[in-house]
Amino acid sequence: MCGIVGYIGQRNAWEVIIKGLHRLEYRGYDSAGVALINQDQLNIYKKAGKVSDLENFSDGKNIKGAIGMGHTRWATHGAPSDRNSHPHTSGDGKLAIIHNGIIENYATLKEELISRGHHFNSDTDTEVLIHLIEEIQQQEQVDLLEAVRLSLNEVIGAYAIVVMSEDHPDQLIAARKGSPMVIGVGDGEYFIASDASPIVEYTKNVIYLKDKEIAFLKRDELLIKTIDNVVHSPYIQELELKLEMLEKGGFDHFMLKEIFEQPRSIYDCMRGRIYPNEGKVQLGGVKEYVEKLKNVDRIIIVACGTSWHAGLVGEYLIEEYARIPVEVEYASEFRYRNPIISEKDIVIAISQSGETADTMAAIELAKEKGATIFGICNVVGSSIPRISHAGIYTHAGPEIGVASTKAFTAQVTALTLFAFYVAQQRGKITESQLITYLTELETIPSLVETALKSNELIKKIAEHFIDSRNCLFLGRGSGFPVALEGALKLKEISYIHAEGYPAAEMKHGPIALIDEEMPVIFIATKNSSYEKVISNIQEVKARKGVVIAIVTEGDITVKNMVDYSIEIPDTNEAFLPLIATIPLQLLSYHIAVMRGCNVDQPRNLAKSVTVE
Ligand code: F6R
Repeated sequence: MCGIVGYIGQRNAWEVIIKGLHRLEYRGYDSAGVALINQDQLNIYKKAGKVSDLENFSDGKNIKGAIGMGHTRWATHGAPSDRNSHPHTSGDGKLAIIHNGIIENYATLKEELISRGHHFNSDTDTEVLIHLIEEIQQQEQVDLLEAVRLSLNEVIGAYAIVVMSEDHPDQLIAARKGSPMVIGVGDGEYFIASDASPIVEYTKNVIYLKDKEIAFLKRDELLIKTIDNVVHSPYIQELELKLEMLEKGGFDHFMLKEIFEQPRSIYDCMRGRIYPNEGKVQLGGVKEYVEKLKNVDRIIIVACGTSWHAGLVGEYLIEEYARIPVEVEYASEFRYRNPIISEKDIVIAISQSGETADTMAAIELAKEKGATIFGICNVVGSSIPRISHAGIYTHAGPEIGVASTKAFTAQVTALTLFAFYVAQQRGKITESQLITYLTELETIPSLVETALKSNELIKKIAEHFIDSRNCLFLGRGSGFPVALEGALKLKEISYIHAEGYPAAEMKHGPIALIDEEMPVIFIATKNSSYEKVISNIQEVKARKGVVIAIVTEGDITVKNMVDYSIEIPDTNEAFLPLIATIPLQLLSYHIAVMRGCNVDQPRNLAKSVTVE
């Protein structure tokens, strides 16, 4: 959701913070703000719009100071505006706060504070918290750290906050619960951020703050305690992240870079986990649960958005190869409908960010009911892997484009490995079959490379669809989740309305939409449903629909039937989603770019959805 950065040291804090906010802008981009202390004076600059708008606004102003904090916002409480932008200040203007998360009981707290004479300048939940801290500090006559601690005990909800005070120009206080926060440990300096990206160029030493921990930072002092007042000794880890992973590397957009990174990211997900010559899959992250996997009667997958689509592919794979019934649930629905779960179940939570609020709540619910939780996540050290019993990291590397691309194919790769791993453990697949499958799986990165060669052709095809208002994506079998994912990609970055359907469902409703204006994209590769899909294509052509088909290399039959075709290399049906998704990502990308959309930061979206 929102992104936060803090700095205390000797450097120019503004520069560190602005650079950091640009890196975190994927988390939210409807307003931005910075607070700095210079010569014992607190200065705040904030503005609706992007971080670059804030920079223009602050041009020529006093942006000096070696201690400060900044925020990039994705609005929850209060519309995007200058007054709702963070930082927010206390009544006397001496304390400032930035916040990522939601304070659920803010309305009650606000009412009480108003009744005691507090005045508010914004519609946010965050401002309530800084007034509460101010009140507690004054009434209880405690220091700032204690005031923050006592206030957080009154808060219900999620937060990652940084607080600073004009009266204590040498301190930063940070705390988290449910929203991520990393502290970078430098030499006589500390960095705070929502993820490690603003920190990596200054230090590799980081501390992942845990839920309900508060950090008290001075240039040469760090104290961590819990909101229950228990002191914790900091656990410093070394970052694996590299700076070049956070840059566009010559591509126009992060999304395009990430699409082109997929041969590598799929390979990285498989690396060290498959042994084609021996017909063996190894998944260290779940190996302690082998006995459970051998005997489990049901797997439930919970996820949101693109990760949910990966879950649907997982359902096909796990049922087909491991022969375990799988249910795939939207985390947001699952958590609220009293689902039937027991200690016999395995729940797999899929999440790129590892922070999605609905997915986390679904995990908590399943855990309460005794289920075993596996997390499939991309961001190492994020919350979901921490609250899961076991799991598989997807190792796709940082995904900055808000629309998920390489994280999706890495999730599908992880689920493919999982399906074969469980099939092997349950004796549902022979060693020689596994040798065949894994040998083919190993070639997928190079087949993705081949699929990416259609980029220029896809760009030309995209030109014909920039004025489309609707679009239908159809597929069968595991081509269906691919169609859903294609439709989601198009709508979220180009704002063209798009729907994904199982191809056979078309005649039960969507066929009414088809006319010469309606592009219909088919996953029409040579697999078990090929003939059936051909019939569906003919039904669309008979109604003058415009058909774009993703076809198997060399397939003349479909090519001659449709308006536009994009070839992908042939592969085993099990791996089709990994290849067929590529042209759909490129098609959405080019259509969106030609329509002048901001593909990396589509309107209203944020990369990690830490609110329900
Ligand atoms: C779409 C997209 C979203 C996410 C969804 C879940 O391109 O990125 O639909 O997939 O918000 O996010 P994670 O995977 O971080 O839980």
